[in-house]
Amino acid sequence: MKPSTLRMLCNLNHRAKYARRFPRTFSAEAPRPTTHFGFTDVDEVEKEKKVHEVFANVAKKYDLMNDAMSMGVHRLWKDYYVGGLQIPREAKILDMAGGTGDIAFRMHRRAPTAHITVGDINQNMLDVGKERASNENVNLSHLNFVCANAEHLPFSDDFFDLFTMSFGIRNCTHVDKVLAEAFRVLKPGGQIAILEFSAINESLKPLYDAYSFNIIPVMGQILANDRDSYQYLVESIRKFPNQQEFANMFMKEGFSSVSYENLTFGICSIHRGKKMARSLKLQPE
Ligand SMILES: C[S@@+](CC[C@H](N)C(=O)[O-])C[C@H]1O[C@@H](n2cnc3c(N)ncnc32)[C@H](O)[C@@H]1O
Repeated sequence: MKPSTLRMLCNLNHRAKYARRFPRTFSAEAPRPTTHFGFTDVDEVEKEKKVHEVFANVAKKYDLMNDAMSMGVHRLWKDYYVGGLQIPREAKILDMAGGTGDIAFRMHRRAPTAHITVGDINQNMLDVGKERASNENVNLSHLNFVCANAEHLPFSDDFFDLFTMSFGIRNCTHVDKVLAEAFRVLKPGGQIAILEFSAINESLKPLYDAYSFNIIPVMGQILANDRDSYQYLVESIRKFPNQQEFANMFMKEGFSSVSYENLTFGICSIHRGKKMARSLKLQPE
């Protein structure tokens, strides 16, 4: 049986429940722009609310689920990602969609003089991060937590040396706005590095799809009593631009020296870029 047929059969019953939990709302006003929430089309305002709901629900089990879903491999990806960052002394770093602090704590251990701002739209995730910081003896004078939307950053222009974002950008409604904001708040010469799920090597796709669509939502149900949120997380990966498309978005927002590196056959990738002068930004067509 084809993986797509298997997936359809497994998910048929679940689809109805998913639609009831994340219903689409309609209004008599002019239609608002739509986007995707996993495989469902929703209006843009609705997407932000739904994403918020997902992470508010998973916050307390987020770290446990990451270990279970990736069989611990997310730790290796994150170690590699942070290990490859160029962090100047006393750097000002913004870790956006920083969630429970996984990336910020690694950066703090690697560069204890850096000042790291952990930004996230979801206070529940940040609260778990703050609790972890005090348990893990992180020096809080070098770390601050800010509840903010990556699409509208509450920071001045040309402020940070480094912008990081790990497994967060695919949840944002306007990926281009996030990149534009990252560009704005970075100093000239500042670096951006984004770790995100990506397009896996074609030959491994059937296996990867079977695992993600059939096992991960069930794990979400068993470990976090929340199948729907993990169904969304799996679907959102498929809707995200592939490596080259995402690199093109970096260039369109004005980043130079843009490159990407695949991890584990492209399950995820690290995209890197540098802010040069604003005037290099391409004009929209
Ligand atoms: C999968 S978690 C990643 C957390 C952490 N960076 C990590 O690698 O473990 C995604 C995070 O993105 C955050 N997020 C989603 N949309 C956002 C937005 N528009 N602005 C800021 N954070 C956002 C969520 O609240 C969540 O904490």
